[in-house]
Amino acid sequence: MQTIATINFKGGVGKTTITWLLARYVASLGQRVLVVDIDPQMSLTLAVQLEEDGRLERRFEKWYNDRHLQLRRTMVDALAQYKIRCNGHLDFPVDQNFIYTHSNNLHLIPSVVDLYWLELEYKCVNNFIRALLNRIDQYTQYDYVLFDCPPSFTPLSYSVLSRTDIVLIPVNPDVFAARGVKIMLEGLQHRLQPWHNPKIAVFMNKVRLFRDHLTKEASGYWAHVRAICYHQQHRGLSVRPLASYIPQRTDIKRAIARGNFPTEYTQLFINLWNELMRYCNEPEQVTQDSFQVTSNI
Ligand SMILES: Nc1ncnc2c1ncn2[C@@H]1O[C@H](COP(=O)(O)OP(=O)(O)OP(=O)(O)O)[C@@H](O)[C@H]1O
Ligand SMILES: [Mg+2]
Repeated sequence: MQTIATINFKGGVGKTTITWLLARYVASLGQRVLVVDIDPQMSLTLAVQLEEDGRLERRFEKWYNDRHLQLRRTMVDALAQYKIRCNGHLDFPVDQNFIYTHSNNLHLIPSVVDLYWLELEYKCVNNFIRALLNRIDQYTQYDYVLFDCPPSFTPLSYSVLSRTDIVLIPVNPDVFAARGVKIMLEGLQHRLQPWHNPKIAVFMNKVRLFRDHLTKEASGYWAHVRAICYHQQHRGLSVRPLASYIPQRTDIKRAIARGNFPTEYTQLFINLWNELMRYCNEPEQVTQDSFQVTSNI
């Protein structure tokens, strides 16, 4: 099982859109995919249930109300159960009332609004995701688990980050991008190392193109982001700016509301996914600085 967390503290950069479209693409390859919505805004949970005409799918609504909520199988219920012993093990019924079957290969753990408040109450969230994934693994096997994170550093997103294999950071090439990435990467380095060192991939979403090429403006902003990535790489973080990018397109924006995959953009998602997987399957490179960190322990 490979785990991928899409995160950026900056809101609206396309975390949910990319997570959902990538998940659908990877599931279409025949891989078993689980998407986990840990954002109490519930955007991904909403996206999953939208029909082509923009209406909510009755099947999901019924499942969510009659089974997921009614039978107390939400993420909040799982956290409440975890909190009782807080010993790294989760004794919670992970079953079809907890995980929604969108299609054969594509499953979802929905979010729930209570996550907004719950994190204030629960202190022992740190190892929750690790325990949850162990529990899911006993129930069924997935090739990939994709987490859609909120635009902030919550205890639950920390729990995801401290377990995930891959951190995927979409950035919009604008004047705020480099600073946002710097804050994210420094935060990850500060909070996760040396305990956990996931592979971090940064890529551009919502890129404005001119005649199929990056505009001068977008290239300039991206150059800043790349410079930040290389700086952090030199300091021992496994981070890479990807060459693949997703352009700003109304069809991609509408893809979620329409509930279908924008097939004309499939190649872009193939490129993004393949580059991400190549990076993830590369053996770990030990840089001078990261060796220094290890040898100092
Ligand atoms: N490549 C794209 N082209 C055009 N519109 C896009 C693209 N990617 C995302 N959007 C649009 O940008 C808006 C924000 O996207 P999305 O909700 O995925 O961002 P987010 O980072 O998950 O937001 P939040 O921080 O609130 O969770 C949505 O209206 C979405 O349709
Ligand atoms: Mg989102």
